[in-house]
Amino acid sequence: MTGQAANAKLMQAFLSDDLIFHPSPEFRNNANVQDARIYLDAEENWLQYWDKEAGNLHWFKKWDRTLEWEQPFAKWFVGGKLNAAYNCIDRHLREGRKNKAAIIFEGEPGDSRVLTYQDLYREVTKFANVLKDLGVQKGDRVSLYMPMIPELPIAMLACARIGAVHSVVFGGFAAEALRDRINDAGSKIVITTDGGYRRGKILPMKKNVDTALEENTTVEKVIVVKRTGAEIDMVAGRDLWYHQLMEDAVIGCPAEAVGAEDMLFILYTSGTTGKPKGVVHSTGGYLVGASSTHRMVFDIKEDDIYWCTADIGWITGHSYVVYGPLANGATTVLFEGAPDYPARDRFWAIIEKYAVTVLYTAPTAIRAFMKWGEQWPAGRDLSSLRLLGSVGEPINPEAWLWYHEQIGRGRCPIVDTWWQTETGHIMISSLPGITAAKPGSASIPLPGLELDVVDPAGRPMPAGQSGFLVIKRPWPGMLGTIYKDAQRYVDQYWGRFENMYFTGDRALKDKDGYFWVLGRVDDVINVSGHRISTMEVESALVDHPAVAEAAVIGKKHEIKGQAISAFVTLRDNYTYTDQLVKELKAHVASKIGALARPDDIFLTAELPKTRSGKIMRRLLRDIADGKTLGDISTLANPETIMQLKEQYAE
Ligand code: WTA
Repeated sequence: MTGQAANAKLMQAFLSDDLIFHPSPEFRNNANVQDARIYLDAEENWLQYWDKEAGNLHWFKKWDRTLEWEQPFAKWFVGGKLNAAYNCIDRHLREGRKNKAAIIFEGEPGDSRVLTYQDLYREVTKFANVLKDLGVQKGDRVSLYMPMIPELPIAMLACARIGAVHSVVFGGFAAEALRDRINDAGSKIVITTDGGYRRGKILPMKKNVDTALEENTTVEKVIVVKRTGAEIDMVAGRDLWYHQLMEDAVIGCPAEAVGAEDMLFILYTSGTTGKPKGVVHSTGGYLVGASSTHRMVFDIKEDDIYWCTADIGWITGHSYVVYGPLANGATTVLFEGAPDYPARDRFWAIIEKYAVTVLYTAPTAIRAFMKWGEQWPAGRDLSSLRLLGSVGEPINPEAWLWYHEQIGRGRCPIVDTWWQTETGHIMISSLPGITAAKPGSASIPLPGLELDVVDPAGRPMPAGQSGFLVIKRPWPGMLGTIYKDAQRYVDQYWGRFENMYFTGDRALKDKDGYFWVLGRVDDVINVSGHRISTMEVESALVDHPAVAEAAVIGKKHEIKGQAISAFVTLRDNYTYTDQLVKELKAHVASKIGALARPDDIFLTAELPKTRSGKIMRRLLRDIADGKTLGDISTLANPETIMQLKEQYAE
């Protein structure tokens, strides 16, 4: 059967509601988890279940209590002492993996570097000594603003080794967004590069750091990795070259035994206000959750070549490029570049080159591949693949089927994994050896976890009806708090429903108990799997002298899932021009980063508002999605919305 014919058949089956993919007997018989009783056993005693999972890590001192729960603050593995870097490196040296590839790095220009676990030990302990010599102590914050090069995980693990807290800022963020994140964390050190490669160009990362630090008072040193050789300014007394520091550094640095509850990292994510939230993850619970889910969901075997394509600047990169795979002694692929550079088969060339067995990527990438056409993957040998994963947003069944057919060649199970920066690790996903997959559904919560879909009063919704996705009991990787803002943590996640964590997502459970996540209910837009707050974009817009008021919404987009649309009113003396629209788009990109650049900006005389002056974003969303308008009777200025609708249709 040709790919296309098979696809048509699958689509038909899907529409007739019986499209279910069962694991093949071969896959099941070799899977890490083969027995569905794991769900029941975990349910019977979920704390004992996590206790057992925690036993897979190395602890300097075993914990006294699995969980202390003073809602909404959880302490996991209380009294336990461990070190994340020790778990990701040292322990493997004794377990026969000294010579195994820990990291396979593929640079955008095609350069390649393999670090064995022994290599990783050397580099991490040396850099840990560098940090110590610079005065970094346990609990100090270190900001990392780097491309996807080995020095990024090396720096993360070096921080973890000495008990310092890393805060990785995605390399695509602009200087101002970087500045806010460095300032909020109060970092002592920033680590960056002389640039990163992006589609043949060089990203000016060091320049962004220089701008971000203009008024900073906490950062003492900036460490610069030489990656591209681009000309940069080095500030005397502040900036230091990584390679020079490493020349004199000593190999071997004791791994600090930190408390399970000690902070491992801060990672900023967009919330419903303009100020990003510093999501705090602690060492013990996070590492237990990340490693356990990585082993089960990706069915990791000793000889797998595992590749998660996410950038380490996001949680997926933290948990499933760095901590999960390395804690499990796996081989993890690190790719610096873009999927279409130098050609649109770069991903497939990498799979062929390294014989990748497990691939974890995002629906937005899959939809772009679909658009580029089947000839790109078809020209490469993908026979090494045995398992595929998806993350970041709901995967539409068409994309799921294409992924299954064109990349998995019909042989590989797909795990659709639902989770968040805040959850630290995967929460809803099939276990590939036992759970049947339905394209478009992330399936059911992993063992030991309890999620549900509820109505506004917190009552469970009947099957097939959509409501709010909530988590009903603590889990090991749950965020500890929002950095320096515990109240925001309490209000944001635990204030909406009694005794439940609110995810901000809308979902439904079908008659088989499968979860179908439908998207966000708050003011967070998911663009290509990246969370962007409407407020953040709005503040960037009103920061421009021409803008009086702005309302930002997410609208459906074929490849990105959602794209940013902005509705803007101008101050007096400014007039509508195409040039101004361009300028406003560039302004947002320069403040936040290219990822937040609006697709369209509509200049309008007025925004639709309620009589109390609240902007009605719901109506703007309806316009952008081409829906019939809902109730406009509460508007103070109903004529505005009609005008906008006409303008939009043009
Ligand atoms: C969305 C990324 C449907 C969801 C790991 C969530 C998903 C937000 C899926 C978190 C999925 C993530 N199916 N929706 N498999 N995975 N999401 O913090 O809206 O960047 O709340 O974490 O992405 O995004 P974040």
